[in-house]
Amino acid sequence: MKKIIVGLLSVVTAVLCCFGFAACGKAEKVKVIEIKLTEEDYVYAVKTGDTETQNALNSFLAEIKDNGTFDNIVKEFFDGTSTFEYSNPSSKDGCLVIATSADFPPFEYKKGDKFTGIDMQVAKLFAESLGKQLYIEDIGFDQVILSMGQATSEYKIGMAGITYDEERDKSMDFSNAYYTSAQVIIVKEGDTIFDGCTTKEDVERILKEQKSSYKIGTQKGTTGYMYSAGDEGFGYEGFKNLETKIYDAGALAVKDLSNGKINAVIIDEQPAKMITASTNANIK
Ligand code: ARG
Repeated sequence: MKKIIVGLLSVVTAVLCCFGFAACGKAEKVKVIEIKLTEEDYVYAVKTGDTETQNALNSFLAEIKDNGTFDNIVKEFFDGTSTFEYSNPSSKDGCLVIATSADFPPFEYKKGDKFTGIDMQVAKLFAESLGKQLYIEDIGFDQVILSMGQATSEYKIGMAGITYDEERDKSMDFSNAYYTSAQVIIVKEGDTIFDGCTTKEDVERILKEQKSSYKIGTQKGTTGYMYSAGDEGFGYEGFKNLETKIYDAGALAVKDLSNGKINAVIIDEQPAKMITASTNANIK
């Protein structure tokens, strides 16, 4: 009798364990901690010395800011009413060729095989103002920064929610600022460690207390990465006590967070909100 009970108990334990493990492996919802960790201005990158493009872009930006076009584009992408989509022409000959990293909603992303986003619509309108067709090259964000720093770059402009920074300014030119942003942190919905935080100092104090096993995901070459890992040129001390992981795109980092592979993601505020919403929409 005793043997049967012990046997039954072990079966029950095994079944419970299975469910337990299944629960562990399940994707979890994530949340944005709404505290601005940095202050950043977005700019468009122009190849060093191309003052003609830089001036044309600046007057164009001033015009669409003045007549309300820009604010309207932003509003439509924020409230989800935008219907803007763009497909490249078959050849880039004679086109205004721009570089982006289409993984950053609402600024640049893809709907199926079409480009969309605030920066992409601005690019389309700017090309039109020059009497040209637009050709978008979708390369990784670090590649956008790298190629805009080369005098031989085939891209006229880099449009990718690029944060202005003196360090970057050394190798390329920039348009005037067009948008104000900040880094924020995303964690699992059930994670309470930042619950009592009200200031960036509160968040940073908690991050500094974490062990080396604590992992923060960031996109390669971004200010989010510099903020987390530390970068002298950018003036970020970083969190040397923990591990900063590099991803090709923010959404891939958030996916790993949701699957429990990392503890947090640091990324720009609006993309954080949009990526969090789309990640959670896929989780019951
Ligand atoms: N604003 C940040 C930076 O300049 C991130 C930009 C990432 N952009 C993108 N299209 N993935 O570093």
